[in-house]
Amino acid sequence: MDENKLIDGKKIASDLRAETAVKVEAFKKDFNKVPTLAVVLVGEDPASQVYVKTKTKMAKEIGMDVEDHFLDTSVAETDLLKLIDDLNKNDKVNGILVQLPLPSHIDSRAIIDSIDPIKDADGFHAVNVGRNSIGGELLNETFTPCTPLGCYLMLKKSVADLKGMHAVIIGRSNIVGKPMAQLLLEESCTVTIVHSKTRNIEELTRQADIVVAAVGRPLMVKKDWIKEGAIVIDVGINRVDHPENPGKTKLVGDVDFDEVLSVASAITPVPGGVGPMTIACLLKNTVDAAIRQQQ
Ligand code: GUN
Repeated sequence: MDENKLIDGKKIASDLRAETAVKVEAFKKDFNKVPTLAVVLVGEDPASQVYVKTKTKMAKEIGMDVEDHFLDTSVAETDLLKLIDDLNKNDKVNGILVQLPLPSHIDSRAIIDSIDPIKDADGFHAVNVGRNSIGGELLNETFTPCTPLGCYLMLKKSVADLKGMHAVIIGRSNIVGKPMAQLLLEESCTVTIVHSKTRNIEELTRQADIVVAAVGRPLMVKKDWIKEGAIVIDVGINRVDHPENPGKTKLVGDVDFDEVLSVASAITPVPGGVGPMTIACLLKNTVDAAIRQQQ
């Protein structure tokens, strides 16, 4: 394998966590408080449980506090709103993360928009989404969603100047696709978002200098979708049956890594690419929130 082509998310995330740890120490010294993230998890979705556990472990490793609020799947929306209200008012809590997806009887938008925007570590509140969309100076007053921020920081490590590059984003979610497009527009990229209803998805993707795949379909992006020399960021984390070990599973991305490696100039692996960056960006957002709350 051509190691030079790998964008090492693990290493870039570890560097970002080290930078964030320095901010945590300074915050403790300056304000005699510990930056604190409240994590709200409803139900027992195994993938969500793993994400939440990893987020908690990493936060503690860099000296932050984490308050867990694990609730039964049947929790009433009013009870969840009451919890968020309490967290908003609690001066110890600097960042609030409500793990998605929420059960279908709960209005996720109502829950997200009940979070105080200055504690919105995920950057999902409508006010922060608006600020991210407007860009410019308002980027200093918002929080950028962690996965696209992680992808963006990895791209910045791989390319000196993103200006004028054509980025094709596969997927139009509020968590990844849309905020990713805004970040790249802010860098003066030409941005195309393709999705499940796009007619000529392969042809459009083949024109890209940068491909960000965020659809949740294992190994969808093949070699002939990618222009020679393109940079490929794979957001997909899909658990599939292991091809060689019956009864076992493995994680694969939305990109057929083994095929695409030969044409891409740089590519993120799965695991070890976007995943660690998402968590590092959550910790960064939480500490930035804590600092902003003191100003
Ligand atoms: N579910 C999948 N990704 C995310 C994320 O970045 N934040 C939250 N809160 N839930 C998610």
